[in-house]
Amino acid sequence: MVRNTPAAFLAALLTLGPAARAAGPKPLSSYDPQVKPLLAGMTLEEKIGQMTQAEQDALKDLADVENYFLGSVLSGGSSDPKEGNSLQAWTDLYDRLQSRALKSRLGIPILYGVDAVHGHNNVLGAVIFPHGIGLGCTRNPALIEKVERITAEEVRATGIQWTFAPCVTVPQDIRWGRTYEGFSEDPALVRQLSEAAVRGFQGMDLRNPLSVLACAKHYVGDGGTTYVSGADGRGRLDQGDTKVDEQTLRRLHLQGYISAVKAGVGSIMPSYSSWNGVKCSASRRLLTEILKQELGFEGFLISDYNAIDQIKPGDYKGSIEISINAGMDMVMVPTNYRTFITYLKELVNEGRVPVTRIDDAVTRILRVKFAMGLMDKNRSQLADRGLHKTFGSPEHRLVAREAVRQSLVLLKNDRKTLPISKQAARIHVAGKSADNIGDQCGGWTIDWQGRSGQVTTGGTTILAAIKGAVSKNTGVTFSPDGAGAEGSTIGVAVIGERPYAEGAGDRSDLALDREDVAVLNNLKKAGIPVVVILLSGRPMIIGEVLPQADAFVAAWLPGTEGQGVADVLFGEYKPTGKLSFSWPRSNGQLPLNINSPKEKYDPLFRYGYGLTW
Ligand code: BGC
Ligand code: BGC
Repeated sequence: MVRNTPAAFLAALLTLGPAARAAGPKPLSSYDPQVKPLLAGMTLEEKIGQMTQAEQDALKDLADVENYFLGSVLSGGSSDPKEGNSLQAWTDLYDRLQSRALKSRLGIPILYGVDAVHGHNNVLGAVIFPHGIGLGCTRNPALIEKVERITAEEVRATGIQWTFAPCVTVPQDIRWGRTYEGFSEDPALVRQLSEAAVRGFQGMDLRNPLSVLACAKHYVGDGGTTYVSGADGRGRLDQGDTKVDEQTLRRLHLQGYISAVKAGVGSIMPSYSSWNGVKCSASRRLLTEILKQELGFEGFLISDYNAIDQIKPGDYKGSIEISINAGMDMVMVPTNYRTFITYLKELVNEGRVPVTRIDDAVTRILRVKFAMGLMDKNRSQLADRGLHKTFGSPEHRLVAREAVRQSLVLLKNDRKTLPISKQAARIHVAGKSADNIGDQCGGWTIDWQGRSGQVTTGGTTILAAIKGAVSKNTGVTFSPDGAGAEGSTIGVAVIGERPYAEGAGDRSDLALDREDVAVLNNLKKAGIPVVVILLSGRPMIIGEVLPQADAFVAAWLPGTEGQGVADVLFGEYKPTGKLSFSWPRSNGQLPLNINSPKEKYDPLFRYGYGLTW
């Protein structure tokens, strides 16, 4: 069954025909004839409302959606429905807010935005896919398109129609806490996979009720920031400054946007970070000249969470002025939306923000709403609860499992340690992450930062997957620290990083935890061959443990489907994953990547490395 899934999918893709694919989606500006008359009848308040995105749990009053004509509402990484994170609670929340928007004078529906960055990851029971770094190692655009189509369908099951994904970043320094959100350090691979991801989310036509609006982020150079050592001894990269000339910015960091725009991406999120000291959210050169005028982006820009507050110099009102005039179209103001609306209105009345700029922003937002069929009076804008049937379904999980097995990179395999025989007498599994779905999923899972342990429902831990894969005569024992392995045929250590997101994951030291090293030592003491499965959001410094391991697998942050790992361990699937990031020997070498000077490029494993058998 697993084997049929990708084949069937490829067949389906082929039936689309090359002509349909080459044609690409309809240009968003083709909806302008519908936008114009609507815009002409809108008050300034209604226009500014469309440009405002508030956070659902920060709404002072539910009626604010209607009274302030909000164009959008979001749930940030930890912004749960009051009733909890069930599918039901999320769907009810969406319907509650959308019903409010439909009651406003013009009845323009809201776009509801979430970070569905590896599946509909805020909702219990959703299938959680590998994070970007693992998908990058598959190098399989058709698979990534399929992954995002399923994500779109699960998002739509809650009524939500917008995801802040894909992250088309090109991380150049793996000490950055967002490395795992990116596909690769290589702009060419990012370019290819970003296009596939956008096509997966949006499909060929945004009007399809199973499509969601994608958002390429974080524009631009978020992965190119300069490492700054902090007073606390901890380095910092997140939301920093990318100090490169324009040619380098284009060559390394712009590539994913070129292909995302080509695939018709409807929204793009400017980055918290700066380019040569200027915040991206304040840069007319980046937002208007390069993206809109030169690349021909016809969708709208959504600022990052409270990002425009960081624009200096200036008070908040001045920051709004700078950003909107630079080309920002919608502003993510999780809590201060009432103040934002007041100030923007003042700015327009004072002539500091031209009405033409407001009209351009609103046109861009409404184009997308028309393109998505949101303005279609014959269509319900409430959630289609029929989609609950397939939410987290076995079919969806099979695709995630396929993504997991293709994402694993085999770094070492001495004396044919892998594959393990399903008939082995006894397998000893060890390590803090072996029976830990939270560690498998990483950050952006239910909570913004993710959580170790039982973070969600459904899915299979690696330990459970191993138990499910072996013969009935095989004993599987487990200890978190590797004790008690004596007498087993082989040991499997599942070790690595604990979940984190964004700046909280910035690290100057990528060495393994002492606790993880101890697990390996214990298994070795038992005198058995040892397989290491490393769960991490980036390459780690493994020089110390690699000699102890007979086989070593980089499994990244695979998500809920641990069976994909077992498929490789037991030879159901021959490894095909290739490193999408260079693997360093030491912390001292960082940053190290294929764009580093040739004479300095001396990694432990080169970009593109990956064994098979
Ligand atoms: C992140 C974005 C995310 C947004 C909304 C920000 O902190 O940088 O990637 O989309 O929050 O949750
Ligand atoms: C939100 C995230 C957001 C972050 C920004 C958190 O509280 O949940 O979505 O990215 O704040 O700092």
